[in-house]
Amino acid sequence: MTVRIEGFHAVKHALRFAPGAVSGVRVRSLDGARALADRLAPDITELLLSAASEAAVAHHTGIEAVGRIPAEQRGVLRTRTRPLVVLDRPRSPGNVGAVVRVAAAAYASGVAVTGTLDPWHPGVLRGSAGLHYALPVLRVEEAELTGPVVVLDADGDPAAPLPDDAVLVVGSERTGVGAGLRARADLVLALPMRPGVSSLNLATATAAALYRR
Ligand SMILES: C[S@@+](CC[C@H](N)C(=O)[O-])C[C@H]1O[C@@H](n2cnc3c(N)ncnc32)[C@H](O)[C@@H]1O
Repeated sequence: MTVRIEGFHAVKHALRFAPGAVSGVRVRSLDGARALADRLAPDITELLLSAASEAAVAHHTGIEAVGRIPAEQRGVLRTRTRPLVVLDRPRSPGNVGAVVRVAAAAYASGVAVTGTLDPWHPGVLRGSAGLHYALPVLRVEEAELTGPVVVLDADGDPAAPLPDDAVLVVGSERTGVGAGLRARADLVLALPMRPGVSSLNLATATAAALYRR
């Protein structure tokens, strides 16, 4: 299975973290691609150009590629030394992509998604800027989750800890965390908000929880 990787930054991240998964790099202009890479990410210039051919490219950066969707790394559901982010029935591909991006930056061990949204949907990959290739991103059933479950919820405890091996559950845009995962919570962590603000979005809540000390 493959997915289209759109844009310079997404292709750059895929080449950095999983060069073997990238093929079919298309650039509007080889000279333009070299100039862009030299300016923004010289570490991948040669890798990019060695795989590139000139073609019509719709993305405004003039670069796209084909990415192989890796085999799911399901070991992260059992063993880990950094929190696993679990998105409970998310609806927006862009939100999921933004969570993958911050999860990769903050050394989360992976991102797992319950429900029907495909975590490798092209819109999710667009939102992650290609950082799907930096950590395991997979679909999961609630029953497969092991380890301390920390539910993120505004009505929780602001002082709750986040263990290194936690399953960090972030709720859906409309309805928050569902009854199934709520019932499994060992801890419910709240991120304090100014009165009148009803919630943070998925990626902001994930970022605040992962970067919290
Ligand atoms: C957009 S919010 C969901 C709001 C939803 N209307 C609800 O009923 O919870 C998405 C998720 O982000 C997390 N979240 C947002 N703000 C939070 C906060 N202040 N403290 C803890 N978690 C928060 C929760 O996991 C929440 O389910």
